[in-house]
Amino acid sequence: MKAVAKAHTNIALIKYWGKRNDELILPMNNSLSLTLDHFYTTTEVQFDERLANDMFIFNGEQASEAESTKISSYLNMVRQYAGVKRNAYVRSINHVPTSAGFASSASGFAALAAASTKALGLEVDKKTLSMLARQGSGSACRSVYGGFVEWEKGNSDDGSDSYAKPILPEAEWDLRVLSVLLESKAKPISSRKGMKRTVETSAFYSGWLKAVDQELAEMKKAIHTKDFERLGEVTEANALKMHATMLGSQPPFTYWQSGTVSVMEEVQQLREAGIQAYFTIDAGPNVKILCLPEDEQIVRDELEKLPAVKGIYGCRPGPGIEYQDYL
Ligand code: PMV
Repeated sequence: MKAVAKAHTNIALIKYWGKRNDELILPMNNSLSLTLDHFYTTTEVQFDERLANDMFIFNGEQASEAESTKISSYLNMVRQYAGVKRNAYVRSINHVPTSAGFASSASGFAALAAASTKALGLEVDKKTLSMLARQGSGSACRSVYGGFVEWEKGNSDDGSDSYAKPILPEAEWDLRVLSVLLESKAKPISSRKGMKRTVETSAFYSGWLKAVDQELAEMKKAIHTKDFERLGEVTEANALKMHATMLGSQPPFTYWQSGTVSVMEEVQQLREAGIQAYFTIDAGPNVKILCLPEDEQIVRDELEKLPAVKGIYGCRPGPGIEYQDYL
């Protein structure tokens, strides 16, 4: 009745932006990500019929009310799937600097999905695990696999065809992703709220949907031919389009801050100097930079000179879900 699982975060190169079903978390478009080795969550779940409530310990401390409610409602879905009623004791350690604005929901829900199903003795394949992780946080469905991963949006109303598939394992292409931590101001609006407003009001949302399939096809070709330049160009163009949809929303919003723009400018300058570096940005001010292993040091050196840069975390392609004996 006890299991421990480890899941890594992933960075979307083709973004998931917009839901067609909020409750089941069904996306409007396919997305494609790279799982990262440096950031991960390990979670232990133990179901115990003697527990009066679910209990959660995050990084050694009692979880907040809001976190507890979120995890309990997720476990209710897993319990319903398994046909059991027992409460659970959950301990989770996040090796992601969450307070710094690096998202941990992908690794968090992927680890919770894997540990809770294993603790209940359920034999779930990766496709099912991906669908279960999706219902915690959309991007979590991609963290089931290592390396490059595509989340197929599916077309059904019940979500039975909306899950991730591996594209290229992590050992096949040695790249670097530099996660740049910025001096940032107030917390931005959640991805959940940002997506909803964009889908409902953005003058540019139809343009986003129209472009994404072509970008996805080009990116898959770039991955299979290991064409780094094309991979980077499509990654950057896709991120810029996603952020443009927010500017066309009502009321308009952006996750960019002055530091975000300074990093984007630096990446452009590096390219003008002949270094292949490309940026991508999620629903927050921080920037991730894709580069080749031989250019990592120079990219780091140049970024460290920027006053807004508070830290740089170097990542490589990382693995999918792993089970462990202990937390
Ligand atoms: O899975 P969520 O609800 O945290 O949304 C993720 C949204 C983006 O990070 C902006 C894009 C993506 O595909 O990960």
